[in-house]
Amino acid sequence: MIPKNRREKLLSQLDDGALVIVSTNPQQYRNGDTHYPFRPHSDFWYLTGFKEPETVAVFSKKHYTIFLQEKNPAREIWDGERLGIAKALQTLDANQAYPINELKAQLPLLIKEATTLYYDFKACALDNDIIECLDGAKTQSLGEHLHEMRLIKEDNEIVLMQKAADISIQAHQLAMQQAKIGLAGLFEYEVVSIFDAEFRKNNAEHAYTPIVAGGKNGCILHYIKNDQVLNEGDLLLIDVGCEVEGYAADITRTFPVDGKFSQAQRQIYQIVLEAQLAAIACIKPGEVVIKPHQIASKIIQQGLIDLGILQTGDDLSQFYMHGTGHWLGLDVHDVGRYQQGKQHRQYEIGMVTTVEPGIYIRKSDKIDPEYWDIGIRIEDDVLVTDNGNSVLTKALVKEIDDIENLMK
Ligand code: GLY
Ligand code: MN
Ligand code: MN
Repeated sequence: MIPKNRREKLLSQLDDGALVIVSTNPQQYRNGDTHYPFRPHSDFWYLTGFKEPETVAVFSKKHYTIFLQEKNPAREIWDGERLGIAKALQTLDANQAYPINELKAQLPLLIKEATTLYYDFKACALDNDIIECLDGAKTQSLGEHLHEMRLIKEDNEIVLMQKAADISIQAHQLAMQQAKIGLAGLFEYEVVSIFDAEFRKNNAEHAYTPIVAGGKNGCILHYIKNDQVLNEGDLLLIDVGCEVEGYAADITRTFPVDGKFSQAQRQIYQIVLEAQLAAIACIKPGEVVIKPHQIASKIIQQGLIDLGILQTGDDLSQFYMHGTGHWLGLDVHDVGRYQQGKQHRQYEIGMVTTVEPGIYIRKSDKIDPEYWDIGIRIEDDVLVTDNGNSVLTKALVKEIDDIENLMK
């Protein structure tokens, strides 16, 4: 779907006098006069396709009005070309386009004509201006409607998600092969650079901060320092995915840096793999979205009991403390409800979820040292289809033999 159709679809769910107001992300300074690369807000990108900062879109069943930066030859020398007001009408399909500095003069007039206002505060630089224009008027949640649309992926979105998955898979394969080659004194950041290069080569970027965690760092769930050396015998947990035209892949693989799983690593890995495969297998339209977590948790719990690491009745969360998946799309942790009222909702065709069970064993007197510092997660991206599901990331090896063969 093109943004125009999405705006129409959204409006068709709202009352006739509805006015939708949506703004994009602010420019973020990194330091001094340097910015982070600009990334539009996902809601705004989805509804407009427009990637410039300092923009607000306002639309109803009668008009599509966009406020954007004016042409400014002096600024454009520094920051690059701007679309400008004149071209916005045609390029963005808008009926009205105003300079962003006229927002406070024009927006109240549009608000006055509306019966219901849909707007979500996003802590965006322009939010304060919008709130001033609202002048205390009551607003309804835009996300409640918009995020349900974003949750069900269109065919063209799935194409982009598959592309992000394919590029990420290629990079993970290279990392598995090159981590082995560089065994002597390889640093985690050198592995990150394999992903950097592969993503840049494909005009993609990281969808989130990479996690490249050797040995005990694999037990730190949000480990992003990526600055330690890899030691022989270590597992390497890599949670890295790229973004293509805003759409994310989110993949984790864990493998031994010397290309051969130890007996203890192999035992824990097999439990996580079995949990992940069973969790994926249950995903189909009509199944409740909590099911993969229930299945994965049960398998992990039993597996750890069988190894004597966990006692019956013990709390599993000391070894498995996160959920088994989340929606994936324009945001890595994508929008969309998980509940329908108080009930768990059901999967529907077009939803994309990650499936990412793990086991994390820190040093403990109560555990045999051969299991210490084993942190394993396996994560794939799963599309719900009419006959069950399709794993967008299935081309990336995860069976022990396949990993060891690839690393030979
Ligand atoms: N990479 C973030 C996550 O797996 O949720
Ligand atoms: Mn994830
Ligand atoms: Mn991940």
